[in-house]
Amino acid sequence: MTYQELKRDEERYVMATYGRFPVALDHGEGAKLWDVEGKCYIDMTSGIGVNCLGYSDSDLIKAISDQAAKLMHVSNLYTTAPMVETAKTLVLHSGLEGGKVFFANSGAEANEGAIKLARKYSYDKYGEGRSKIVTLKNSFHGRTVTTLKATGQDKFHQFFFPFTEGFDYAEAGNLEDVKAKADGTACAVMMELIQGEGGVLPLEKEFAQAVEAFCREKDLLLIIDEVQTGIGRTGSLFCFQQYGIRPDVVTLAKALGGGLPVGAVLAAGSCSGVLTPGTHATTFGGSPTVCAAANAVLEKVTNPVFLEKVRSKGEYLRQKLLAMNSPAILGVRGMGLMVGIIVEDGKQGEYVNQLMDHGVLALTAGKNAVRLLPPLTITIEEIDEALAAMKEVFGAE
Ligand SMILES: Cc1ncc(COP(=O)(O)O)c(C=O)c1O
Repeated sequence: MTYQELKRDEERYVMATYGRFPVALDHGEGAKLWDVEGKCYIDMTSGIGVNCLGYSDSDLIKAISDQAAKLMHVSNLYTTAPMVETAKTLVLHSGLEGGKVFFANSGAEANEGAIKLARKYSYDKYGEGRSKIVTLKNSFHGRTVTTLKATGQDKFHQFFFPFTEGFDYAEAGNLEDVKAKADGTACAVMMELIQGEGGVLPLEKEFAQAVEAFCREKDLLLIIDEVQTGIGRTGSLFCFQQYGIRPDVVTLAKALGGGLPVGAVLAAGSCSGVLTPGTHATTFGGSPTVCAAANAVLEKVTNPVFLEKVRSKGEYLRQKLLAMNSPAILGVRGMGLMVGIIVEDGKQGEYVNQLMDHGVLALTAGKNAVRLLPPLTITIEEIDEALAAMKEVFGAE
């Protein structure tokens, strides 16, 4: 079917919740995608940070198809080897002593689980009245009624009233504001170390460390939302490992399944026993097939050589962007292969459209960022191809 034919049926049968680009994608290989008309693109989006091994990774495909043939799904009333292995790998590589994992199906659900865990942690220890969760302004934590309210952006607090109560928002980088908002009614602070949707905005290390110290002092749980930054994206398995902090709870999703839907709440020993039988569950969570995918992903992404390549390719990309000396590029932010090209406010969408015309798929973020989240396996040749298109679009010297 052509794009026009597909679009006609999409408009008829699919809810119009997305402003989609005028392209229907058909297949991919490595960091390249082809649309139904045969045009090829370098993918600097990886399904918004999901396809960390790129497209058609043979080990990932084999892991999924072998497991699907053997045992695709069973309920959480039974134990399976792939699920146990994923949890063990995440805990052992996180360094979170006594850590345990709850499996969800998406980032929003992982955050919902973390919010429930934090509230119960506090309820079990201190009783009622300590349920507030402080998040940061400009954050993004998901699209459920609760995680929309956890998100520190007013534009997400519309239409769907009443939202879940018990969230307040502190200024990123402002410890005094965190302290003021996290008063005696709070049980946790939840934050992204690099605000992804908010504009690829990394927190200062000193700020993250000071928030951690404050959480310890007040017995607040520190929840780090690594849905976008986790699983190698920033050049370490977890971004928190480069911040020198020890969260109580880490939430994961996106890249963990390499393309299959899986989320995870990874809780440290301080709170890994809080969620008990009957307090939290989900039918699909930790199914053997998605966990087989996660195990294939983790096998590669936990390799120090793989992670070093993510860091060096990210550095290469950022340096080349800066060296373009383009008047349109006002700055370059990010860590590893999570990159934000800062442009004039409001112009990011136009640049992304132009990049697509030049055969490069990119994302927007916040008020002024063109966001690049390529597959972690992207090659230098593929990066160079994308850079050549960017040079034309940004009108580099
Ligand atoms: C930091 C962060 N948290 C949570 C989410 C929500 O994840 P999902 O779309 O899988 O529910 C996202 C999605 O972009 C995210 O970037």
